[in-house]
Amino acid sequence: MLVLGIESSCDETGVALYDTDKGLLAHRLHSQVAMHREYGGVVPELASRDHIQRLLPLVREVLGERSLTLQALDGIAYTQGPGLAGALLVGAGFARSLAYSLNIPAVGVHHLEGHLLSPLLADPRPEFPFVALLVSGGHTQLMHVTEVGAYETLGDTLDDAAGEAFDKTAQLLGLGYPGGPAVSKLAESGDPTRFKLPRPMLNSGDLNFSFSGLKTAVLTLRNKYPEEAARADIAAAFQRVMVEVLAEKSMQALRQVGSIRLVVAGGVGANKQLRQRLVSETASWGAKVYFPPLDLCTDNGAMIAFAGALRLQQGQAGPAPFNVKPRWDLQELPRT
Ligand code: KG4
Ligand code: ZN
Repeated sequence: MLVLGIESSCDETGVALYDTDKGLLAHRLHSQVAMHREYGGVVPELASRDHIQRLLPLVREVLGERSLTLQALDGIAYTQGPGLAGALLVGAGFARSLAYSLNIPAVGVHHLEGHLLSPLLADPRPEFPFVALLVSGGHTQLMHVTEVGAYETLGDTLDDAAGEAFDKTAQLLGLGYPGGPAVSKLAESGDPTRFKLPRPMLNSGDLNFSFSGLKTAVLTLRNKYPEEAARADIAAAFQRVMVEVLAEKSMQALRQVGSIRLVVAGGVGANKQLRQRLVSETASWGAKVYFPPLDLCTDNGAMIAFAGALRLQQGQAGPAPFNVKPRWDLQELPRT
């Protein structure tokens, strides 16, 4: 079964072809980062307009790369939510119309399910059940995944998401958007031991997170040490705490459910320090950590094509309700 995947929930237009026998055939991405940069964050209306312009050319590109035509498609998967309503509507409208014209099924995919299952596109792939650390710009969750569609939330953020904390810290340090890569690059030249930042919720006794206090602590430090030379040290201290809290809570989650498999997904999963820390912590506990391929950590069409293909294979296309879900709880999903 050949499935076209379409991601348009935020500031990236992602398109991919996934074949249930042959695997990922092609994927392309257009990032709107440059367009939004001058505003310091994503402008929803501009995002929607840009998705409209990018989708068709990207679809032509992925098909062309494999010398395929639209007629080869067996189904279309698109991000139905959560995300920006207008941006989601562009993808949903495009996908549903194309599927209708080709007389093939279309399925709306939960964006986080896409992230959550993206490590299954890597080699080696984790077996079920596993614990997933989902760390993106909008979400920070620990989930217990027993099968496709069976997602139990073990912990969640009480305020800012991990990626959001990186982005806000970047802003406070005068770095560009998106903040994660910029903060972690600056941190490389900093001394992580010079400043001590609070480690929020580390001993809260549950698996929840809170990052807004950390942001305030960064702001206080920045005001106290405004000199240029302190910036890298603040970035390093911030990254160290983020990595420590995310890693420690992930290990607590593994112990709580008695799992030896940890899966990391979402944009913050691209963070090198976090990856290294999780590799060594899981290894010392006899567990193993799985990451998506680096280019599939942040938003992409491949994860949507893949998650959609699993659902289309089960005949879960549905009667084309044309709606998107800007807010959508992962635990509402049906099992495959
Ligand atoms: O998953 P994603 O691409 O989009 C959402 O669904 O939110 O995640 C984007 C987030 C941004 O907040 C970005 O700053 C963060 O992931 N990010 C990183 C890194 N690369 C991206 N955070 C820390 N370190 C990185 N290397
Ligand atoms: Zn995402």
